[in-house]
Amino acid sequence: MVSFTLLCAAIAASVTSVVASPLEMLKQHEARGIQPGTGTHNGFFYSYWKDNAGSVDYNNGARGSYNVRWTNVNNWVGGKGWKPGPPRVVKYNGTWNNYNVNSYLALYGWTTSPLVEYYIVEAYGTYNPSSGTQRLGTIDDDGGTYDIYKTRRTNQPSIQGTASFDQYWSVRRVKRVGGTIDTNKHFSEWKKQGNLNLGAWDYMIMASEGYQSSGSSEIEVFN
Ligand SMILES: *[C@@H]1O[C@H](CO)[C@@H](O)[C@H](O)[C@H]1NC(C)=O
Repeated sequence: MVSFTLLCAAIAASVTSVVASPLEMLKQHEARGIQPGTGTHNGFFYSYWKDNAGSVDYNNGARGSYNVRWTNVNNWVGGKGWKPGPPRVVKYNGTWNNYNVNSYLALYGWTTSPLVEYYIVEAYGTYNPSSGTQRLGTIDDDGGTYDIYKTRRTNQPSIQGTASFDQYWSVRRVKRVGGTIDTNKHFSEWKKQGNLNLGAWDYMIMASEGYQSSGSSEIEVFN
């Protein structure tokens, strides 16, 4: 026979599982996606990184696709692409509708020696990453104009741990979701117009990023 105490505990447990707390729901939600890290999926490289706060439900999908929903994060970035990511023409499509929150949709990657974090920004939300920065030039690619910028990061997370490094930017004036990006154009114009030197290729992904926001996207890249 079940003791009264055990019975009460069982009832409490079943009530808890029916009415999950918001934190519990966040955890259950996150548990559906994969853990932060890097790897390969369907022949594509993927990377998914987040700092401590909030919840990210990141899933690799068919072919070169991924889908993600993030909730109350401080900062997360991830997506699918290539490693190493040498110059290539990147074709992508999908859904990214985060114009009213702080988020980027960007071809995103790293080089080493020098350590550089680079972005070719296709769309952004409430924060323009070039705010307060001097424009170094412009690039025309796939029917759009991008402005070139450089910013400096000091003691920030990187693929080599906490480090200080430059960020190179192309920011598309007219935002879009879907098209082709001739990365070689950006890399060579960065050097020519801004004297921005890249190092050895590390990864390159078509990334979604969220900063102190909640949002979602579904993006596919093509080989
Ligand atoms: C990209 O386009 C292909 C082909 O039209 C389509 O099958 C796929 O669903 C699209 N991917 C996304 C993420 O929308």
